[in-house]
Amino acid sequence: MNNALLHSFQTLKQVYADGAFSSIALNKTLNLCKNQDKALITKIVYGVLDNDIKLEYIISRFVRKMPKNDVLLYMKIGTYCLCELSMPVYAVVNNVAELSKLSADIHIVGFVNATLKQIAARLSEVEYPQDETERISVEYSYPMWALKKLIKDYGMDAAKQIATFKLPNYTTVRVCNDFDVAENCKQCGVQAQTTPFDDAYYIDGKTDGFTGRWTVQSLSSMAVARICAADACGSFLDCCAAPGGKAVYVKQLRPNLQVAACDIHEHRVQLIDSYAKRMGVEIATYRRDMTQPEQQWLGAFDTVLCDVPCSGFGVLDTRPDIKWFRTSLDISNLMKLQYAILDNCSNYVKTGGRLVYSTCTVFDNENGQNIRKFLKEHPYFTYGSINLPQFSQANGKAEYQFLPYKDGVQGFYVAVLVRTE
Ligand SMILES: C[S@@+](CC[C@H](N)C(=O)[O-])C[C@H]1O[C@@H](n2cnc3c(N)ncnc32)[C@H](O)[C@@H]1O
Repeated sequence: MNNALLHSFQTLKQVYADGAFSSIALNKTLNLCKNQDKALITKIVYGVLDNDIKLEYIISRFVRKMPKNDVLLYMKIGTYCLCELSMPVYAVVNNVAELSKLSADIHIVGFVNATLKQIAARLSEVEYPQDETERISVEYSYPMWALKKLIKDYGMDAAKQIATFKLPNYTTVRVCNDFDVAENCKQCGVQAQTTPFDDAYYIDGKTDGFTGRWTVQSLSSMAVARICAADACGSFLDCCAAPGGKAVYVKQLRPNLQVAACDIHEHRVQLIDSYAKRMGVEIATYRRDMTQPEQQWLGAFDTVLCDVPCSGFGVLDTRPDIKWFRTSLDISNLMKLQYAILDNCSNYVKTGGRLVYSTCTVFDNENGQNIRKFLKEHPYFTYGSINLPQFSQANGKAEYQFLPYKDGVQGFYVAVLVRTE
């Protein structure tokens, strides 16, 4: 049996059937499998999740009754390999049919074999829906409910761009002063490209062999930390801080700042601790539910960051499974949680201090709508100003929605508010 297909199947099964996070399930698999299989497994796992709606649509054109569970997964893997990877048809059909023997049912093996042959032979004849919104949803595997939200928020043209644009497949690394970029790239045989930030690079290959102090961190995460650090003095509270990307970077940018970082989950607080240790900084960490008041922190911080849990539709390039498991109901539940955190943590801002709100999503419900409601209900807060000279389109504004197709970075939202009394 083909090992790469077997590992891909087992990993995807954990995501589809057990609700595992794709990145965590994939990392576990990659730690166990052979080096030569890693690239293909990664491609298949992320590719199947990213193309889920399209793959189901294609399969549905060739079957009388939609298969379920493992059988559907064999078919998705096979169809993905046929559509998106330049693998010979006979190899895909034979290997996936072989894989389907895991089901120990001769009828299933026959069904998978015959259907994949059909798909390979008549793929170009598949007709996509006439309706433009439905067609985009299927072709780009963007859930219909989410696409409708984008159209409402941005209009059809921008919604199309948001749903279809793909960022280049680079790893973004943030490096510390003592890190030798040229030497590390030479040693690992990779290329580094500069980014708008002088301490971050796009890397076009594997970074496992890098030595020195560095970390994988997206430009969007760095941007929010830089906005927090830009005008910071005294004390900084990151209310939803795990795994610590922003809190640790703020401390590195402003070593004299007192940094406190909270998260609701103990195991995630430990992630902040170990990340801070690895990056060589000290920050105070707390396990707290930040929807609940904490007397000792009332009016205590110069800058408070609410980097709230969100739907994640701005980071689909690294988390394609989000498209598959999120529902529109999640958005309304998330909005309630986001608002409760913002509302409670606003009490921790000193008079004259800043409240920074950020998400890694593109829906107005979770972004501007929360801020507009907050300002209406808290008239002693007003809009402040984003200080981020590297992104002139956002610099000086009170809030900004970054979009991959326009700004070349992941989709994230940031708003800066100031407490006036
Ligand atoms: C978007 S992530 C934060 C990312 C982090 N700021 C960083 O840069 O690495 C949101 C975090 O909020 C935490 N969270 C969810 N509900 C919370 C609550 N009620 N109070 C505190 N943290 C919460 C989650 O555990 C998650 O770690």
